[in-house]
Amino acid sequence: MISLQEVTPENFHRFKNHILEVEKSSFLSPWTIRAFEAETKRPVSQLWALLAGGKIGGYICFWIFENEAHLMNIAVHPQRRKRGFGGCLLKKLIEVSLSEGATKAWLEVRPSNVSARAFYIKAGFTEISRRPRYYRETNEDAIIMSLSLAPEDTGLMKSSYIWNVEHAA
Ligand SMILES: CC(C)(COP(=O)(O)OP(=O)(O)OC[C@H]1O[C@@H](n2cnc3c(N)ncnc32)[C@H](O)[C@@H]1OP(=O)(O)O)[C@@H](O)C(=O)NCCC(=O)NCCS
Repeated sequence: MISLQEVTPENFHRFKNHILEVEKSSFLSPWTIRAFEAETKRPVSQLWALLAGGKIGGYICFWIFENEAHLMNIAVHPQRRKRGFGGCLLKKLIEVSLSEGATKAWLEVRPSNVSARAFYIKAGFTEISRRPRYYRETNEDAIIMSLSLAPEDTGLMKSSYIWNVEHAA
């Protein structure tokens, strides 16, 4: 049984250690606990935790402003990947975006992050441009990807996978 819970300043203490554990095992330059806490207080930001078997399997942080969603962070515990948890988290971003009237979602990803790029492409995102030497620690470019959420566009149709991830286990 999985569920998603919004992380707020009030409940942050319950989630912070597990979130940090997933973050540290997922990134070379992990966010600090202070960075996560700041996101729970930022008006444009939402932080959601995915709970599975009583433990945090992953989380997503995104901003919504000026009719656009910006994915800031997403990670699934290394031992729990490829079970649809990432899809469930991305689905939350899309649901909230649609309910708040956002018409586009944006993200940045490293060219070397092959699994994340495959994950985003499966969700319907397409590469728009590159930002040279965006990641300062490694001098790596950022690939900018976007997904159209406008009803008249085809972006969401390409996300059909996202709408079928209820069964994640
Ligand atoms: C990217 C990430 C969040 C995906 O989470 P996940 O729970 O494994 O993703 P899902 O199980 O929902 O995968 C959905 C689809 O994405 C693609 N995908 C996911 N991981 C993949 C991999 N390692 N290689 C190729 N495709 C992959 C597949 O098409 C998969 O569908 P399938 O299982 O039917 O083949 C996870 O790999 C992760 O936490 N990575 C480390 C943190 C990170 O890089 N975050 C992104 C920063 S930009």
